[in-house]
Amino acid sequence: MKEVIIGGVGKYAPSKIITNDQLSEIIETSDEWIYSRTGIKQRHVSIGEDTSYMASEAAKMALENANIRSIDIDLIVVATCTPDMYTPSTACIVQSIIGANNSVAFDISAACSGFIYGLDVAKSLMKSNGYNNALVIGAENLSKSVDWEDRSTCVLFGDGAGAVVLSKSDNVGLISSFCKSEGEKYKCITIEGNDVDSPFVENKVIKSSKLKMNGNEVFKFATSTIVNSINKVLNENNLNLDDIDYIIPHQANVRIIDYAAKKLKVSVDKFYMNIEEYGNTSAASIPIALSEMWKKKLIKKGNKIILVGFGAGLTYGATLINWAI
Ligand code: COA
Repeated sequence: MKEVIIGGVGKYAPSKIITNDQLSEIIETSDEWIYSRTGIKQRHVSIGEDTSYMASEAAKMALENANIRSIDIDLIVVATCTPDMYTPSTACIVQSIIGANNSVAFDISAACSGFIYGLDVAKSLMKSNGYNNALVIGAENLSKSVDWEDRSTCVLFGDGAGAVVLSKSDNVGLISSFCKSEGEKYKCITIEGNDVDSPFVENKVIKSSKLKMNGNEVFKFATSTIVNSINKVLNENNLNLDDIDYIIPHQANVRIIDYAAKKLKVSVDKFYMNIEEYGNTSAASIPIALSEMWKKKLIKKGNKIILVGFGAGLTYGATLINWAI
């Protein structure tokens, strides 16, 4: 068995929902502004669930869906920019919670592209190291990292997790993918770490642990990247958009997706969207969408799907999938 398929999907979203109207009670904003600029109506917000908990719940659902036991998992990759701790990795905490005692576990930091990066890394390791089953999880607790007094960012994000089980197979599942980074633009979105502070530091640098973003720059980057990434996977596989059943984009802003549909001259219905309910859940957005589509029976065996992500780093990437279950 030389190929890798997605054998199961799962998701978790906190039960606490905050609507745009509720936000307008704590900051100067309105449902009209948020919805018309972003397509977001509400977001799920943690009331204490940390990233590892949400990741574990999504992972348990994906394992059940794939009918695989946690002890049969060889690799756990968690994509997150909001880990529980600097160390250990969120993946190690997930390993402990779900009892996946036979796996190697680590995190990937590629923000909203993290799930695409995670699939690529897991597939490569499965092929090179002989792993049979892997969990790739996108999980975020952005509500602990946004500045709730900054209306230009706090309205955009939400919390949640999505997971897939990857398994070796004779069928082709993950057909092709690419990942790319533009580190020279790293200042566009940041969540900084600890201050460099010790008895040996003369000029202390004060950092901010809250998310900061240059929205206009990111918007320009996202609109060009989403189109180029989709075209790249299509060209590399000698396909055109008629061959594709669905595109699952990172859910950042409806206007980014509308722009992409127009530019690609394809109906916006080809793009799955659930940003209205979840907001931007960063690395979790694509696997949450995948899990939701599976549950709604929108995707069927043999469907060709493109996953496309973009975000802090700046990072981007896309994956072409043959749905094999
Ligand atoms: N409610 C009401 N007004 C708001 C607001 C809010 N929540 N946030 C910002 N504003 C105001 C601004 O202060 C500004 O007011 P001014 O003209 O008086 O200065 C005005 O709205 C326009 O702000 P602007 O930033 O130009 O809005 P925009 O139309 O560019 O939309 C974003 C802002 C953030 C929605 C948009 O830039 C975006 O989606 N960027 C991409 C972000 C993204 O996807 N990031 C994640 C990538 S993974």
